[in-house]
Amino acid sequence: MTAAYVVVPTVAVMVAGAAYIVAALLFILSLAGLSKHDTSRRGVVYGMTGMAIALVATVWLVADDAWGQPGAALGLTLLVVAVLIGGAIGLWRARVVEMTAMPQLIALFHSFVGLAAVLVGWNGAASEFAVSPDLVGIHRAEVFIGVFIGAVTFTGSIVAYLKLSARISSRPLVLPGKNVLNVGALVLFVALTVWYVITPALWLLVVVTVLALALGWHLVASIGGGDMPVVVSMLNSYSGWAAAAAGFLLDNDLLIVTGALVGSSGAYLSYIMCRAMNRSFLSVIAGGFGIEAPRADGEDAQGEHREIDAASAAELLAGASSVVITPGYGMAVAQAQYPVAELAQRLRERGIDVRFGIHPVAGRLPGHMNVLLAEAKVPYDIVLEMDEINDDLASTDVVLVIGANDTVNPAAAEDPGSPIAGMPVLRVWEAANVIVFKRSMASGYAGVPNPLFFRDNAQMLFGDAKARVEDILREL
Ligand code: TAP
Repeated sequence: MTAAYVVVPTVAVMVAGAAYIVAALLFILSLAGLSKHDTSRRGVVYGMTGMAIALVATVWLVADDAWGQPGAALGLTLLVVAVLIGGAIGLWRARVVEMTAMPQLIALFHSFVGLAAVLVGWNGAASEFAVSPDLVGIHRAEVFIGVFIGAVTFTGSIVAYLKLSARISSRPLVLPGKNVLNVGALVLFVALTVWYVITPALWLLVVVTVLALALGWHLVASIGGGDMPVVVSMLNSYSGWAAAAAGFLLDNDLLIVTGALVGSSGAYLSYIMCRAMNRSFLSVIAGGFGIEAPRADGEDAQGEHREIDAASAAELLAGASSVVITPGYGMAVAQAQYPVAELAQRLRERGIDVRFGIHPVAGRLPGHMNVLLAEAKVPYDIVLEMDEINDDLASTDVVLVIGANDTVNPAAAEDPGSPIAGMPVLRVWEAANVIVFKRSMASGYAGVPNPLFFRDNAQMLFGDAKARVEDILREL
């Protein structure tokens, strides 16, 4: 007869289990809330509450588990101090970061998740002795996969951070046989995983860590500026899977659920963005597979451009019956959202129909323009997505392009040889008049020349977007 053992969970285990379910539900509610403007603040509150509950429950669980063991008090103190230091740094960075620097901050945060997954993986390898012999093969595979995803996320996010903060060029790196290198690295990873499951040698773990660090770096370095939005959301997804892998190793259900939520929602967002930019999802995640490098630095002369001053722009606006404003990254740089909101308000008071047209990748992170306009209290109902406004542009009197460039570039629609060919854009050139607010004739993020500036119906209003919009407000 065999004896049956029943493991009775402690109170802490049961309470933490319940707390984890509540936290997971709050994270799901948070995602749902963040999907719409008017519920987004509530979404953030749900997310913060869920994370606070998860942290308290985890610390309690660890305390309950370690209590009475040597060094428990020191370990717990270090844990709480780490949480406080990490929380304080996160709070400080989030408070002081400029909206324009948000994408690189997010990329940096993703790199921490990747690094954490690598460290958890290495720790898992070191504590294999505590794993039941029946499960040791699965444990080794978890270690290997966790380290691999984490290391790819780590260096990929660091490269994204460097590109987004312009510390390195945003141009794609084109190594000879780059696709063979990527596919070769994946095949090698699978072979090494099988090897490690059979023989868990330390050098195999070192090799897979180095391989994954190199792959992450290469994948993101190969991607051109135009595809960076998708990369940021793909790295978000990778960081989720890295956290889920760490959750398996730590036997932490909440980390698995949260990681899977972040991983799948990030992957879906990337897919939506690829569709919006007419890019193949597989080609972007495979590191710019088949995408040519931009061919020019955007300074090519393409004809004569015309200029307009603030007084004439104000006159044109005053005589218009419909105006569409298409903001881009330059509005964020200039912090022009407040005068732009005031301009929209003043024109509407004159009975002019004013709407905003938002490109899905305008700015430097998903929803960048929506956040700025919401900050300046522009009513949601006049802020339309690209697909909602594009067909109306042909019947619009004046389009104001405020610091946007790639997202209004006709070459994407008309020049099959352009590096951004096929990417859907706001067809602003179809309007009767277009006023482009920017400081020079320079190209946008993708480094592609913009023929819009030379169209007969387009006029350039040079200077800082905030200063120029304020000039118009004075003239109106
Ligand atoms: P961009 O193509 O980046 O063009 C922005 C323009 O703003 C520049 O041409 C610049 O011209 C002008 N500008 C900069 N500072 C200004 C200021 N103070 N006042 C007036 N103008 C100013 O912008 P976009 O149309 O928003 O397109 C976004 C690009 O970023 C796309 O290529 C997209 O793929 C990429 N991207 C997007 C994301 C996400 S998720 N949205 C993430 C990474 C990359 P001057 O220098 O002449 O002033």
